[in-house]
Formats: sequence, C-alpha cells, structure tokens
Amino acid sequence: MREKNNVHYSLMLTVTLVCVSTLQSVYGDNPYRYYTWKITYGDIYPLGVKQQGILINGQFPGPQIDCVTNDNLIISVYNYLNEPFLISWNGIQQRRNSWQDGVYGTTCPILPGKNFTYTLQAKDQIGSYFYFPSLGMHKAAGGYGAIRVYSRPRIPVPFAQPAQDFTVLAGDLYKRSHRQLKYILDSGHDLPLPDGLIINGRGWNGYTFTVNQGNLLTCLVTKFLLLLCFIFVTFSTQCAGKTYRFRISNVGIATSINFRIQGHTMKLVEVEGSHTLQTTYTSLDIHLGQSYSVLVTANQPPKDYYVVVSSRFTRRVLTTTAVLHYSNSWTKVSGPLPGGPTTQINWSIYQARSIRWNLTASGPRPNPQGSYHYGLIKPSRTIMLANSAPYINGKQRYAVNSVSYTDPETPLKLADYFNIGGVYNLGSISDQPYNGNAYIGTPVMAANFRSYIEIIFQNWENTVQSWHIDGYSFFVVGMDGGQWTPASRSRYNLRDTVARCTTQVCPNT
Ligand SMILES: *[C@@H]1O[C@H](CO)[C@@H](O)[C@H](O)[C@H]1NC(C)=O
Repeated sequence: MREKNNVHYSLMLTVTLVCVSTLQSVYGDNPYRYYTWKITYGDIYPLGVKQQGILINGQFPGPQIDCVTNDNLIISVYNYLNEPFLISWNGIQQRRNSWQDGVYGTTCPILPGKNFTYTLQAKDQIGSYFYFPSLGMHKAAGGYGAIRVYSRPRIPVPFAQPAQDFTVLAGDLYKRSHRQLKYILDSGHDLPLPDGLIINGRGWNGYTFTVNQGNLLTCLVTKFLLLLCFIFVTFSTQCAGKTYRFRISNVGIATSINFRIQGHTMKLVEVEGSHTLQTTYTSLDIHLGQSYSVLVTANQPPKDYYVVVSSRFTRRVLTTTAVLHYSNSWTKVSGPLPGGPTTQINWSIYQARSIRWNLTASGPRPNPQGSYHYGLIKPSRTIMLANSAPYINGKQRYAVNSVSYTDPETPLKLADYFNIGGVYNLGSISDQPYNGNAYIGTPVMAANFRSYIEIIFQNWENTVQSWHIDGYSFFVVGMDGGQWTPASRSRYNLRDTVARCTTQVCPNT
C-alpha cells in the first residue's frame, strides 16, 4: 500500500499474495482477548485549534492492543460515524483470516450504525505495529492505535527486560478535516503540506515520557555488598540509569519523519517483528507506516530533555516535541533542539541499509514460508511495480504500471470467494511497467500460493513512497535511488536483511 494519497494500492498486493488462502476461523487453544470499540467523532486540539477527530472509546489515539504471540484477538467494532468505517490491522499477519484485514476490497466497510467483530490471531509474531482506519482519509482524523505483540514467556528476546515500554505514535496532521482532504484528492489535486506534527495525539511538549535513573543509594549499597563478597561483577548498568523501550510508529499520511532524543542515543532492537542487530543511532528516519523499537538508557544528568520529531524531505521542515522527564528532575526542557539529518536522501538510504536482522535471536520467524535462509531460495518470478502520478481526464491521479486503481462495487475477496464474475480479471495489470498512457481500472495480479517472488518497487515520482504489503512480511534485500537494473542484484543483502511489512522507496532522482 502506498500510504500517501491513496490506500488503494494495497488491494493488488493483498489479493496477489493471499488470494489462495482459505476463509477459516480462528484456531487453537491460545488465549483469547476481547475488545469492544465504539467509533465516534469528537473534538481534538493537538495543533491548538479545535478539529473533528475520530475517537475509539473516546480516545485519540485509540486504545492500545497488548498481546502475546499466537493470542486470538476478538475485536467488536461499533460504527457510530455517519459514514462507512474500516480498520486495517497493518502488520498483524492473519494468515488464517486474511480477508479480515480491513482495506476496501478484502472486507466490507462497517456501515453507519452497524458493527463487525474481527477475529484475528497474532500468529507466530512478535513486535510493534499499529492499526488504522483505511477509508475516506479517516486516518488523518485518528482512529489509529498501537499494537504490541510480546514474545511468549519462555521465548527470550535478545535484550534485558526494559524498565518500561513506551509507545510513540508520531506523524503529520492537517487542520483540515478528513472530508476536506478527501475532497482535495477527489477533485484531482495533490495534498498540501501538513500543518504540523503530533506525538501521541499531542502537539508541542504536549506529551511526557517519565523515566527513572534507579535508586543511586540502593545501587551503591549493592555494589559495596558485592565487593565484600568478592564477587567481581560490574553492576554499572543499574547505577547508570534504567533502560526503556520506545516503540515508534509513523502514523501520518504524507511525510517521512526523523525521531531523536536530546542528549541520548537509541539502540535499535526491533523493526516490525524482526529483532535487529543492536546498532546505536542518534536519530532515526521513520517512513509512513513503519514501526521501530529502540532502547534508551536514562543515564544523563537528571533534567528534562526534548523528544523531537521533524519532517523529512519537505519544503519546510515541520517539527514537534515531547518531553523526556527524569522523575528526579526539577529542570524544565531547555536549550536548542537536537538537529536532525541535514543531508537528504543518501543519509537515509545509508541508515536503512545498516538495519540488519539479528540472526542469533530466538523468537518466531516472521516469514510465512519459514525461509530463514532467504538468500538461498531462487525466486520463481520477478514483478516490477512502478508508481507514477499521471493526469487522467485532467485530474491528478496515482498509478502503478499505468493502472490507476478504482474500487469495484463488490469487494475483491468476496468476488473471489463466492466466484462472482465480472468484478475483476486476473492479469489485468502488467508484471512490468511500460510507458503507455495511464488509465483507470481494477487491477488484480495472480500469484501461486507459497511461491517466492522478487518484487521491485520503482518510484517514478519525486517523493519518497511507502509500500506496505498488507498482512505480510517481506525481506528488503536492496534499496537505492534511481533506476533498478539487473546489475542491482549484485548488491542485494542475501544474508541478514530484516523481514518487515512496510518499506520506503526512494525517488528516482
Ligand atoms: C451487531 O451486529 C449484529 C449483526 O451483525 C446485530 O445482530 C446486533 O444487534 C448488533 N449489535 C448492536 C449492539 O448493534
């Protein structure tokens, strides 16, 4: 799915990759977690002006889902809006219920005044994700929230239990309502620059993460006792501040962001369900729809520090802040904000390539084929998907391999399951881009169950794009600017790249 501008791209891939999976109910003896959610409009003020938000149980952002690998999630959603509503569960793989991943085309929208119960399973998964509404630019008004899938108790994660686990849902926001944004797109224009950025539904310094250095006295006494016992253990971590996990997702609709914390470094540990090599960064680029976990140690002098999010690759840099508050601090945030990367796309590509899979970590393998040695498997097919921004009938549209997607009246999965003819044709989009005129259609590509496919995303626009494969993880084997050629394969990482569900694709220039 290209998160920017148009959610419709998801359909192709959803149908491509999961069309042969069956409609089965939730299995197994794994625990069940039940949720009842009421979707309403409500006033929100993150940018200092009142605007209409979309709330879940009165909350913006929506409630967080905390679960454990293989848990069953039974989520009843009541739509009290006056328009159809649909939630996408983003990275939750739902291999047994793929048709429930709520993008138009897989599930019917929940009509106003109606309800629908999703039955999902976090099958063989761990990691950080978020859910979001997928219709009518609703995501610009809220309706999203965090999903955490914890490892099962006996499956260790490759780092010590953090003192606390923080969620950071960050991204851009418009003052315009989601209806106005939809109107702009529907009338054939590009979206304007967002009005600002928010963190956990709040604007400038609106949200506080409270951390603790640990009790210094206890620490010194413990050290002393250990010394007395002639046990030569360095207890430095305990004295040097507790360590916290931040799960950061870009929940915006238009811009990539950079995340950093004044005076602190971040150790990357997880990307959308893959444990990573634990590289330390001073700032991280996070593209639309992506999620990262970092560890931050509260080992600095006790005061308050800025948590900064700024937009990337925008004409004007948008910035917002939250506060990292030491529980024993009496000093308010101060000083200049830590600067973000000043170089453009190359810095970002370099950083993305440095993100590697931790091959020795235990835990579920995120890839359904169980393909641990993915580099040894020869793909049976290569698909190249080129996005472009053509004008069709005088309107700005967005297309992939020259087809600009339009919704059919019957959701694709239903047409597939009930064998309803005339809704779509397999092969109605080319495997490769070509330079013909773009046209409007309902493209569906067929693929064989369990086949191994090389997909090349070729960005023919001049902005960074995000592609999300709904309910699936894939290995990001290579990334570069410019045009892909067969020679690009020689630079693939066939050993330890991460499997994830959302990747950025850099512009052609
Ligand atoms: C939820 O939807 C079902 C039909 O799917 C309906 O029978 C039920 O009354 C609805 N519940 C409420 C509280 O509206």
